[in-house]
Amino acid sequence: MSKLQKPFTIGKKVLPSNVFYAPLAGCSDFPFRRMSAKYRPGLMYCEMVKMDALVRHDQGTFHMLDYSPEMHPIGGQICGSKPAIAGQAAKIIEDLGFDVVDLNCGCPVDKITKDGSGSGMLKNPERIGEVIANMVAAVKIPVTVKIRAGWDEQNINATTITKIAEQAGAQAICIHGRTRAQGYKGPANWDHIKACKQAATTIKVIGNGDIVNADAAKRMFEYTGCDAILVARGTMGQPWIAEDIIRHLQGESLPERSIEDYRQALLDHFNFTAEYHQDRRVVVDMRRVGCWYIKKSAGTRAFRELISKADNLDHVRELIQEFPMGDLMASANEAEEALCEDAC
Ligand SMILES: Cc1cc2nc3c(=O)[nH]c(=O)nc-3n(C[C@H](O)[C@H](O)[C@H](O)COP(=O)(O)O)c2cc1C
Repeated sequence: MSKLQKPFTIGKKVLPSNVFYAPLAGCSDFPFRRMSAKYRPGLMYCEMVKMDALVRHDQGTFHMLDYSPEMHPIGGQICGSKPAIAGQAAKIIEDLGFDVVDLNCGCPVDKITKDGSGSGMLKNPERIGEVIANMVAAVKIPVTVKIRAGWDEQNINATTITKIAEQAGAQAICIHGRTRAQGYKGPANWDHIKACKQAATTIKVIGNGDIVNADAAKRMFEYTGCDAILVARGTMGQPWIAEDIIRHLQGESLPERSIEDYRQALLDHFNFTAEYHQDRRVVVDMRRVGCWYIKKSAGTRAFRELISKADNLDHVRELIQEFPMGDLMASANEAEEALCEDAC
């Protein structure tokens, strides 16, 4: 085992590795997590759910938290700003059998931040401490928190929040190296992750931002000294990235993946989606999911156009089987464009 890749002890739990898969709203759903589970990330998170919706037992919200045994270790992420319901919401996640519960302090979307939730919490670090303390008091599973570097360049406060989260009893803090003002654009600044690692005493630090391949993962560990990494957009269309990262950290070479490997992975993802969602939803989802797998080849746009005309599952399957997936070495620009289109 390499110096960088190791089992990850969090509270009383030992996770198999320190390479994690991120919560991705609208993306890390049940079929996505079935694909991910094949490659055994150390931990995978479900997409975020709202605390308010959980405590009023909203069925759609519970549906988003569906998982199957092979998805363990699995984390549930809650989003909200009210200390009074945070404990109850965390307990619901624990009672559903999740291994970890995370607090979202990073979502940049206006409708989330306007009541102080998501990255809105970055403006009120004391509130983050209160919410975490109430979660910790309510559950036995480890509590983690996911933040950004700060609200904007003038208000970088990730190290302050790291100390507050540690005091409040969180076992780990994930730092996304972008500010809220950046959204998902521009490079993540890993200096902020490094600074949080230096500020941390007992709390584990998880680095996040721009881990798009195994080499970037290694650089994140080496540059920041972080204890674990969280891969986000890098998991889209590359469900095997955890396996690649671990091989790379151990000094092994990575398997060459052909166009047909990508096509097969997309077909698997399609089949998992068709088994789980209603037909109409499958067609809609495949427009997006298909582009992830095709992003490294030429023709994402052409695929999206074709698939948007498909009106049943057989048609979608046929398109995937027959789409000329082109050259996997297509320009990095197109890959990047496709990733940006996916960001919510
Ligand atoms: C489509 C999309 C959905 C996301 N949903 C969530 C979410 O539910 N919870 C969360 O904490 N972060 C969410 N994020 C942020 C990612 O987890 C991650 O912090 C961010 O994308 C930076 O990592 P990357 O540069 O490797 O993509 C989302 C990001 C994207 C692009």
